[in-house]
Amino acid sequence: MRHETQIGLLDRLMELRQAGRNQDMLDAVMEVPVEKYTAPEIFEAEVRSIFGGFPMLAGHSSSVAEPGRYLLSDWNRLPFVVVRDKEGVLRAFLNICRHRGARLVSGEEDQLSAFVCPYHGWVYGLDGSLKTVTRSYAFPDIDKCNYGLLELPVAERHGLVWVHPDPEGAMDMDAHLGPFGQDMHHFGIEDFTRYTKTTVTKEANWKLLIKTYLEGYHVPYLHRTTLAANFRKGVLAHDEHGAHMRLAAARTNILEAMDYERSSWNILDYASVYYLLFPNAFFIMHPDYVSINTFYPEAPDRTVWSHEMLYRQEAFPGEKGEKALRKRFEFTNDVVFDQEDFAIAEDIQRGLRFGPNKYHTLGLEEGLVGMFQQTIDHQLQAS
Ligand code: FES
Ligand SMILES: [Fe+2]
Repeated sequence: MRHETQIGLLDRLMELRQAGRNQDMLDAVMEVPVEKYTAPEIFEAEVRSIFGGFPMLAGHSSSVAEPGRYLLSDWNRLPFVVVRDKEGVLRAFLNICRHRGARLVSGEEDQLSAFVCPYHGWVYGLDGSLKTVTRSYAFPDIDKCNYGLLELPVAERHGLVWVHPDPEGAMDMDAHLGPFGQDMHHFGIEDFTRYTKTTVTKEANWKLLIKTYLEGYHVPYLHRTTLAANFRKGVLAHDEHGAHMRLAAARTNILEAMDYERSSWNILDYASVYYLLFPNAFFIMHPDYVSINTFYPEAPDRTVWSHEMLYRQEAFPGEKGEKALRKRFEFTNDVVFDQEDFAIAEDIQRGLRFGPNKYHTLGLEEGLVGMFQQTIDHQLQAS
């Protein structure tokens, strides 16, 4: 994030802290009908028009740094493989054989020199072209040119790899990410290294999981023994670019910034910064590491959650560094997200079938939850 943006955001947060209020969000209490978390037809419409219509985050560039290195999709509904081909070009394909549809890359492979189908041995180049049909005499009439892998648009920007689910989809990532792309650049995500990644299934609607990140109202209660001390008198400021959001949450110490020259301010010393990159990626920025959480809808009440942590290598040297990283990952992943935020989301999902609430009521301080829902509603209406 540019320094002047950091100062501007800190100024806003300090003013809000002194007023004891969040930045205004929605100006009225909002009701969200609970069918949005249960109805199969809403779920299918979301998958089609929201998950089908936006570039999806595939992972960090370091995973595809050299020819043959690859990334696999975490989502069964869009099983892609991203690979750097022999010419150094990044490519994305559906991970599906054109013969009878077997999965080509399982994830066990270290590096790829070609795509070799495990079923009948057809071979494709890393450019997706069909090279070898085994026992080709049995396929006398086929033209190999018609059997290349289905290619998807892919882009690499600021250390992140994006895939468009629509083969015809537009991938202008600078326009898509707008100023938040610049933020990623300034945070130096391209220089980070992957620490670890976990992928697990949660028994909750994808929106319920993401919404746990979009308000600070719950922090003193749900996180009273974990995060609450860092966010006493917490206030929140936000910005939008298209459907994306940037959130900044004042930390307990924010007014201490006033004791120092503004030119020396670093936002992450006084605030936590988060990005919701629509529809399904949530970034949590820390000075030397970043947590990227992505959510993939499998069913109205089931979501694949992946959590990838990237870090700045020089900040965590040796065994001690590894230990510190592990501790941070376990704390955020296992305790804060899994045992606190997402356990609540699963409880909510389970409770929906008993029906005391026909809708969920959002107070003014939960406005970003409402804005996220409205963005989805508008998207569904427009499609
Ligand atoms: S399904 Fe791939 S070679 Fe038969
Ligand atoms: Fe939380």
